[in-house]
Amino acid sequence: MYVCLCQGVTDGQIRDAIYEGCCSYREVRESTGVASQCGKCACVAKQVVRETLSNV
Ligand code: FES
Repeated sequence: MYVCLCQGVTDGQIRDAIYEGCCSYREVRESTGVASQCGKCACVAKQVVRETLSNV
């Protein structure tokens, strides 16, 4: 599912970024570009990051 429409970032891409070494929301944002435009997706993006980090 798309988390960020502006940048076309999916929840899968956010998870992959974490599996590939990102360990914070900020790093995920820098690596995927999520929430770097309108910012509406920030809440959901943070939630996906939090959930994924607590499962690795
Ligand atoms: Fe993610 Fe706009 S939907 S920055």
